[in-house]
Amino acid sequence: MWKKWFSNKSDVDQNQSYLQNSLDPNSIPAHIAIIMDGNGRWAQKRGLPRTLGHHAGAETLRNIVKTAAELGVKVLTAYAFSTENWKRPAEEVDVLMRLLSDYLDSEIDELDSNNVQIRFIGKTDELAPSLYHKVTQAQKRTSKNTGLILNLAVNYGGRAELTRAVQLIARKVAAGVIAPDNISEQTIQDHLYTADLPDPDLLIRPSGDLRLSNFLLWQSAYTEFWFTNTNWPDFTPDHLIQAIADYQRRDRRFGGLKTSK
Ligand code: FPP
Repeated sequence: MWKKWFSNKSDVDQNQSYLQNSLDPNSIPAHIAIIMDGNGRWAQKRGLPRTLGHHAGAETLRNIVKTAAELGVKVLTAYAFSTENWKRPAEEVDVLMRLLSDYLDSEIDELDSNNVQIRFIGKTDELAPSLYHKVTQAQKRTSKNTGLILNLAVNYGGRAELTRAVQLIARKVAAGVIAPDNISEQTIQDHLYTADLPDPDLLIRPSGDLRLSNFLLWQSAYTEFWFTNTNWPDFTPDHLIQAIADYQRRDRRFGGLKTSK
C-alpha cells in the first residue's frame, strides 16, 4: 500500500517537481473535471483487448488523484461511466463495473487515510446491488473527510442530471413548495448532483476528441477546456501540471471584460 501522500516527497520525480514549482500556488483550479478518454485506442494501438486499456486507465486515475491532492485541487470529477456507455458490449461493461469495484476495494483505505472524500454523481442506484452498496459505503465512510473531493461520475449523463433536476423541482411546484415564478438558476443548481460544489474551472479531455460528451453540461458554462492527443492511460502528472499551467495563463472573463494586467 502507498504511504501517506504528503509524508515523503522523494518519490516525486525531479521533472514533475520542477514543473510543479512553475505553478502559481494561489491560482490552482479549485475544481478539475476529466473525461478519461482513449483507453480503447491505447489498447488497440498495442494489439491488446480494449478492456486492458480500461485497466491501464484505472491506474492513471490512481496517480492523478494523488497528484491533484498534492497540488491542492479541492474537487476532481472523473467521468468513469456514462448513461450511454451501457450500449457497449456486455463484456466491456462488466469489466468497467469490476474495475470500479476493485478500485474501491483497493483504494478506499489509502484514500480515507489521505483525507479524500469520495462522492458519486449519476444514477448509481441503477448499478448492480452489490456495487451500489460498495459505492454508498465508500461515500459514507469518507463523508467527514476534508481533503480532496473525488467525485466519480458513474452512470452519469448531463441531460439525465438536468431531467432529474426538472423532475425534483416539478414535484416541489406540484406540492406548492416552490412557485414557478421563483424558479431561478440557483434553484436548478440546487437540484443538481453537484449542488454544493463549485463549477469546474478546468475540464481536461485526453485522446484528441474535442467534445463534451454529455458531461457536466450545466456546470461547464464558463469552464476552461484543455485537450491533448495523449490517450488517458498515457496521461501523467506532468500533463496535469501542464494543463494547470496553461489554465493559469487564460483570461477568464465570465461574460465580462478583459481584466487589465
Ligand atoms: C473512455 O475511453 C473511457 C471510459 C468509457 C471508461 C473510463 C474508465 C476508466 C478509466 C477506468 C475505470 C474507472 C474507475 C473509477 C476505476 P474509450 O473506451 O471510449 O476509449 P476509445 O475512445 O479510445 O475507444
